[in-house]
Amino acid sequence: MCSDSRHTTGEFVREAVRKPFIVDRLVYGHQIYVSEITGDKQEGVRLAGGFLESGIWTEKFARTVYDKPQPEFYPPTGEWYQHPVNLNQLDPESRLALGQALFMYHCNNCHALDHGYSAIAPMLVDASKETIAAKIRSLNVPAFFMPPWCGTDSEADVLAEYLESVRPKLPL
Ligand code: HEC
Repeated sequence: MCSDSRHTTGEFVREAVRKPFIVDRLVYGHQIYVSEITGDKQEGVRLAGGFLESGIWTEKFARTVYDKPQPEFYPPTGEWYQHPVNLNQLDPESRLALGQALFMYHCNNCHALDHGYSAIAPMLVDASKETIAAKIRSLNVPAFFMPPWCGTDSEADVLAEYLESVRPKLPL
């Protein structure tokens, strides 16, 4: 009995300590290697090139969205792969699609959307897009149990727009 309860407490402590990681201090809960991240908490933590551009699947998906003809958005041919796309110039529908992809790959390992395990929408009742974006940009400050934000500022805005569109509004 006694040893059982000690074991349980030990497990609890270990789980709590490694919370943002799948592999302690090596791989975060959203599958990003610590070594892939540039910058620090003060200047904003990100993957070189942004989160969408850095993942095999997210990059493929993002390109299906970017490659639609966009109003006022005509990048020089061949520059897709050298320059991050300005997400602010995409149409609202494309921004929501990218926001959803960011949620699926950066948050969904740990959070359901609106129902179920640690659902995110109910935690953001009535929050403005700006409040949500600020929270995203400093995801692990002071919340040590979450990994750092690994996207660019405009990716944070796009994710915030998506979350703002799904969160409940008062009165409930
Ligand atoms: C490695 C797991 C993990 C990932 C990935 C993660 N979170 Fe969390 N998050 C948690 C845990 C654990 C809590 C604690 C609260 C709970 O689950 O009820 C939390 C709480 C929150 C809260 C409420 C508390 C607060 O600080 O405001 C918000 C909002 C939130 N997460 C947003 C996000 C967003 C947005 C993403 C993706 C960009 C994300 N989280 C990714 C684990 C994670």
